[in-house]
Order: sequence, then structure tokens, then C-alpha cells
Amino acid sequence: MYVSVSYECLEMVGTMARMDVMLVVGARPQFIKSAPLIREILSRHRQIRLSIVHSGQHYDPEMSDIFFRELRMPEPMVNLQAGSGSHAEQTATIMKRLEGPMIKAKPDVVIVPGDTNTTLAAALTAAKLNIPVAHLEAGLRSGDMTMPEEINRRLTDHCSALLFAPTQTAVCNLKREGLSNASWLTGDTMVDALHIAMPQVRAKERAFLEQFRLRPHQYVLVTLHRPSNVDNHSRFRQILIALDRLSKRLPVIFPVHPRTLKRLDKLGLRKSSTQTGVIITRPQGCIETLGLLHNASSLLTDSGGMQKEAFLLRVPCITLRSNTEWPETLEGGANRLLVNPEMIPSMAMRVASDEKLRDRIGRIANPFGNGHSSAKIAHLLRMTF
Ligand code: UD1
Repeated sequence: MYVSVSYECLEMVGTMARMDVMLVVGARPQFIKSAPLIREILSRHRQIRLSIVHSGQHYDPEMSDIFFRELRMPEPMVNLQAGSGSHAEQTATIMKRLEGPMIKAKPDVVIVPGDTNTTLAAALTAAKLNIPVAHLEAGLRSGDMTMPEEINRRLTDHCSALLFAPTQTAVCNLKREGLSNASWLTGDTMVDALHIAMPQVRAKERAFLEQFRLRPHQYVLVTLHRPSNVDNHSRFRQILIALDRLSKRLPVIFPVHPRTLKRLDKLGLRKSSTQTGVIITRPQGCIETLGLLHNASSLLTDSGGMQKEAFLLRVPCITLRSNTEWPETLEGGANRLLVNPEMIPSMAMRVASDEKLRDRIGRIANPFGNGHSSAKIAHLLRMTF
């Protein structure tokens, strides 16, 4: 049942007994959404003993180490070094390598953030050991079962004992699937993460923009890594041609995910793309990415988390997908879904020339919480276990 709760009340009933919590992360967005919760637990809940496991799903320094450093996350207890592979390989490797450490640690609860293969692998491993699972960012639905993330999030929700839903929409999705008993509306820890990061972002963003010779609000930031966009040769080529056309009117910066870089190489497109006006650069850390986003005239993306960060920073977003797990961001044209790559230049130019759009986005109520989600989640953990 979804119940509104007084967190002061939870403080009073919160037990002083020690509890062991295991947090399993492995991919870039999981580091970002977990960091504020880790900080909250370590600074305010001394009765919680936290162990962090890194699955090794993301292993390049710019996909992993930089986030631990920038987000000041403690070293993981163990790195399972699962690496890349097919979905079955990656999920199975994480499960096989996680079972031993989980049996040894005997945690009272295992927290799994997000919707990656690491999320599902950790949730299944814990559930089969009869260890309660707490899903951070529960209840998201894009309705698109061709996306691996949609499969991961549905299955994870259905084997979890505690569901931390970031929005009211997510709570409703869980209710529709008969999961109300375990659901709590906590808000989104990415809002907490943004509050923590913004002072650093503001201090560094101008210098960072100068490095790429970009001017505030006069460029488009692009991030693309979904198989549906980058694994298909002709679609990916169409997208690159569209970005090239756009870059003749407005600078375009494209920090490239390793998956996308490998596609550029495999499809023989890296050379042609570097000959365009598009600034192609390595993946950036979270402070740098937020700096680029904060000052962009718009974001073109297929990422889930960045749609939301754009919304919170009032940056207009164009999502190169036919659906989104964050429908709240579509309100008032803050985010627009686009399927046809040929429309990228005209839509980005239309957004850039709409001077009042940012203000309109700023007036839309924020459905993602007030930046205290980690505190709520830590209290719920203490109350439940
Ligand atoms: C994963 C998540 C996705 C999330 C994204 C954030 C799943 C199913 N997908 O997608 O939800 O939005 O992370 O980045 O879990 N690679 C490297 N170095 C790395 C990591 C990956 O080179 O450190 C390359 C490999 O070629 C690998 C490919 O990227 O095969 C894809 O990596 P993978 O972790 O399978 O999925 P992502 O596309 O990163």
C-alpha cells in the first residue's frame, strides 16, 4: 500500500540495532544516483554498515573511476570485473561472481539502483538467496519491451521487497502491477546529486566551455548510446549526417560513449564524422557533463538520466527515441520525442530560437522531489530492517 509517511516519525521508530546493507553498482548512471545515498548513510546513519560492490560492467577509467573520484565515493569492497558481453553473458557473469561475496557478507538488504544488467543480476542473486532487495528508482516504465532496461526494471521491481519510486507516475505504475505494498514515494536521488554537484559545476563551467571554444547557450550537446540508434548502420549514418548539417548552423559537441565509438569504428564512420563541424570528444565526468548541459541551448540524447537532468536545469531536450521512461519531462515541451533523424537540425534550431522556452520550463512544477530523497530512503531502510 502506498502510504504517506512522516519522516520525523520514522526517525523515532528507527532501530539502533546494526544493519548490514550491500549496494551493487556497475554502470555510469548507477554511480550518480547512488552517490548521495552513500553520502547520507555514511554521514548520518552509523548503525548501517554499508558495503559497496562494483560489478565491473563499466571498466574504462572515464566510465567508472572518474565518477568514484568526482562523486567522492568510497572504494568498493570488491570489483567483480564482469566487463562486457552479450546480455546473457554479462548478467550471468555478474550473478555467478556476486553470489559468493553475498553469501559471505549476509547483508540484511541489497540495494540495486536503476535498470542496467547489473541491477537485474544483483536483484536476482539476492532474491534467490532470500535476501530482501530494495530497488532504487523503481516503477519506471517506457512500455518498450525491446529495450533491455525495460526488461531489467520490470523484473527487478517484481523481485524486490522495497520499491523506492522517484515520482507519483512511478508509484501509479507499481500500483497497476499490484506492487503497492512495497512502494514508497521517495523522490529522485538524482535531484540530490544535482544539488551536491552544482556548486562545483558553477565554479568550473566557464573554463570548461572555453576549452572547447563554446559560448553559453550557443551550442547543442549530444549524447547517444542506445543500440536502437547506434547499432544500426543506416540509422546511425543518418544521425551523423543530420548532426553535420546542424553543426553548420550551431556548434555541436558530442562526448562519445565507448559503445558508440566502437560503432563509429566498426561501421567505418569515425573518419567521416571527425571531418564534420561536430566536436567529437571522449566521455566526460559528471561535473563536466553537467557544465556542458547547463550551458547548452538544447540537449539531443537517448539517455534516460540526461532527459531528467536537462529538465531540472531547464535546458530544452530532444530525445531521439519513440518513448521515454520519464514522461513527466514531456510537460510543456520541455522534452520532445523525435524518431526521424532528418528532423534533428530543424527541431534543434526551432528550440534554440525560442527565447521564452527556458522560462516556460522553469515554471513547470518539479515532480522529482526536493533533494532530500536519500534521507528518506535511509530512514525507510532503518525502519524496515
Ligand atoms: C549500459 C546500460 C544502460 C545505461 C548505460 C550508461 C544495460 C543493459 N545498459 O549501457 O542502461 O544507460 O550503461 O552508460 O545495462 N564499453 C567500453 N567500456 C566500458 C563500458 C562499455 O568500451 O567501460 C563498451 C563495450 O564495447 C560494451 C559496450 O560499450 O560492449 C556496451 O556496454 P554495456 O555495459 O553492455 O552497455 P551500455 O551501452 O554502456
